[in-house]
Amino acid sequence: KQEDTSYEEAISKTIGAFYRFPLVEVRGVPLMSLIAQNWSSIWAFCPDPSDLLIATYPKAGTTWVQEIVDLLLHSGDAEICRRAPTPVRIPFLEITSPHPVPSGLDFIKAMKPPRFIKTHLPIQLVPEGFWENKCKVIYVARNAKDNMVSYYHFDQMNLTQPDPGPWEEYVQKFMKGTLSWGSWYDHVKGYWKEREKRNILYLFYEDMKENPRREILRIMQYLDLSLSDDIIDKIINLTSFQVMKDNPMANYSTIPKEVFDFSISPFMRKGEVGDWTNHFTPTQSQMFDEDYARQMADMNIPFRTSI
Ligand code: A3P
Repeated sequence: KQEDTSYEEAISKTIGAFYRFPLVEVRGVPLMSLIAQNWSSIWAFCPDPSDLLIATYPKAGTTWVQEIVDLLLHSGDAEICRRAPTPVRIPFLEITSPHPVPSGLDFIKAMKPPRFIKTHLPIQLVPEGFWENKCKVIYVARNAKDNMVSYYHFDQMNLTQPDPGPWEEYVQKFMKGTLSWGSWYDHVKGYWKEREKRNILYLFYEDMKENPRREILRIMQYLDLSLSDDIIDKIINLTSFQVMKDNPMANYSTIPKEVFDFSISPFMRKGEVGDWTNHFTPTQSQMFDEDYARQMADMNIPFRTSI
């Protein structure tokens, strides 16, 4: 209850006090100005060894995995997992005041470990305490084209993010790595390269769509949990696209329209693999594929653009 009150209060205080934060580079990575402003406290954050981190490039399926993990940690208890909206239950490391979505360091520090924390930071910007304390880290990656399509719609409706501009320009910005949180290519490669050494569970959105049970069981094992088949069935159902779309504690509908304008796009938009075919022209797709081959030449990550 207390969490709800501070959440509502924090939102009402910040409405109107922001609009599409500009990007500022932090160690060569373009980030929203408020992240750059708070950088020293974000970088200095030291987690507890029991804390768990979920890291993603924006729009790779973060919220989906957040919901799965929260349910796994609470033995599939739907009621407990509706105790608060996602960014309150699982705070977003680098999003702090004056961002209008209440989350971030203040929320994390007010919670007792073990905490479950979200970040979009590329691996080199993750505070070193996570590695020193050997925290568990789950990374979710999504194929570049669908990831970009989802980000394009999100940047239109999320009025704190830079204006995406026209689609053709957005494709260029994605390829150049100038969007908020930087290059998709560097992001997915950074975590892939370190996954074994740092014990990172590296998941793919497409695998989760193809076989949610298999991927939920992988997460369960990584977390050293053992839950019955019945509970797993329940979690599969509770984290299906449609159930999450209808769940106000998971669909971001608690965020006011001055921040997330759902009339432009819902947060839970389509939840599909292959929506890129509805956005890319054949010429754009070819140009993108050629650039992709260059940017990914040094690392073979098994992405699928269809299932
Ligand atoms: P689309 O825009 O393609 O629909 P993030 O949580 O990282 O911001 O990612 C959001 C994307 O994940 C959105 O993609 C959203 O619809 C999708 N998503 C969220 N929950 C999902 C679920 N349960 N099943 C499939 N996709 C889901």
